Amino acid sequence: MTDKPWGGRFAEKTDQAVEQFTSSVAVDRQLAKCDIQGSIAHCRMLARQKIISDQEATAIIEGLEAIEKDIASGTFIFSDSLEDVHMNIEAALSERIGPTAGKLHTGRSRNDQVAVDVRLWLREESRRTIEGIKALRRAIVAAAKDNIDVIMPGYTHLQRAQPVRLAHHLMAYYEMFSRDARRFKDGMRRINVMPLGSAALAGTTYPLDRDYTASLLGFDAVSANSMDAVSDRDFVIEFLASASICMMHFSRLAEELVIWSSSEFGFITFSDAFATGSSIMPQKKNPDIPELVRGKTGRVYGALVALLTTMKALPLCYNRDMQEDKPPLFDAVQTLTACIDICTRMFDNFSVNHEAMRQAAGSGFLNATDLADYLVGKGLPFRDAHACAGKAVAVAIEKGCELQALALDELKQFSELFEKDVYHFLDLEQVADKRDTYGGTSRNGVLSRIKEAEKEIGQA
Ligand code: ARG
Repeated sequence: MTDKPWGGRFAEKTDQAVEQFTSSVAVDRQLAKCDIQGSIAHCRMLARQKIISDQEATAIIEGLEAIEKDIASGTFIFSDSLEDVHMNIEAALSERIGPTAGKLHTGRSRNDQVAVDVRLWLREESRRTIEGIKALRRAIVAAAKDNIDVIMPGYTHLQRAQPVRLAHHLMAYYEMFSRDARRFKDGMRRINVMPLGSAALAGTTYPLDRDYTASLLGFDAVSANSMDAVSDRDFVIEFLASASICMMHFSRLAEELVIWSSSEFGFITFSDAFATGSSIMPQKKNPDIPELVRGKTGRVYGALVALLTTMKALPLCYNRDMQEDKPPLFDAVQTLTACIDICTRMFDNFSVNHEAMRQAAGSGFLNATDLADYLVGKGLPFRDAHACAGKAVAVAIEKGCELQALALDELKQFSELFEKDVYHFLDLEQVADKRDTYGGTSRNGVLSRIKEAEKEIGQA
């Protein structure tokens, strides 16, 4: 027998290379707090069910609480040879309270233990993520409110299309991040299920009260199949999928801010505090923050694909492969959190160049649709109106002017229906504000969505 907790049947000492290769403690020590939380609940339940005595439970719980303090203060020494966080804590407990420590693992396996730890950890991280996204949504709404009167070009195919309010554009991201928050919240329903009691794979012979353990740990439900419970990592994959979608949204925002801050666009200027320079080109001020956010998106997608690939075709139940779930999960959570925080701050760290946005919206015939709509209002079928407006655009291109610079006589060559009021129709604010369908870019529409949003984020 060796000195491992599982050493009973082993005659030979574990090869050192194997110890190193199999050890996960450098990574899963992050779970220590949740591991202790799960163990204390399991222990309370064991005592309540008279599987261990009250004195034993008290000794175990006091020991675990002391270990938790050591870990929090940084005095706890994790050892690689003890494989993982679970065995490190168990060994420390045994050192502290002696053989009674061995009773904690009654009716439990590391397979259901690690599952409960990750669920507790990810539940907390999901909550934090949702709170972080709420702060981000607040920052977006504040920026939208500040810029309600700024008109900019809206794009399709990255070609100027129709004028929109900058506030409307920003609020598009509010919608995306609100959906992300809802996705994380919904995922918590699948996370918040208690696997303890599944033991290694088949359940346990001890009369455990799983509902009681679940209630102690704040779980909404207990898992219904022990084999599934110890081999399920769907909830991690689902979180990573939600994180990937959220990062995709960040990457789009980041890309736009990079483009907008270029001299070609000149729509925004980052504060000096939120930009970096070049070591060779003295004139440079680079948008590294959104660039890095865009870049980190790949990392989070990578985590999702890594775990999907790890889990692919694994036979039931637990397999050691599954230990590889933690590095991508922890890295993705850390990356996502960093992006949420920095992007929230970013909204206070660029100024909007109103004039540049407005000027860009004022050239390129962004009111051409409205010229056609004007004729439709006078009874012309839309297709004919579209053709008339198209001809007007062609002439304007030739003359190097905008549609509103064409004289009424010139417009009348395309259709007799044009009258003086067409110029009012072509005004950019008018063009934006006529788009008054719910969800459109009119001032009233955007303002009322901002009001709703303020209620959603508890700001109204
Ligand atoms: N470190 C392991 C993991 O993270 C814990 C479970 C180990 N179970 C086992 N049967 N070796 O997956």
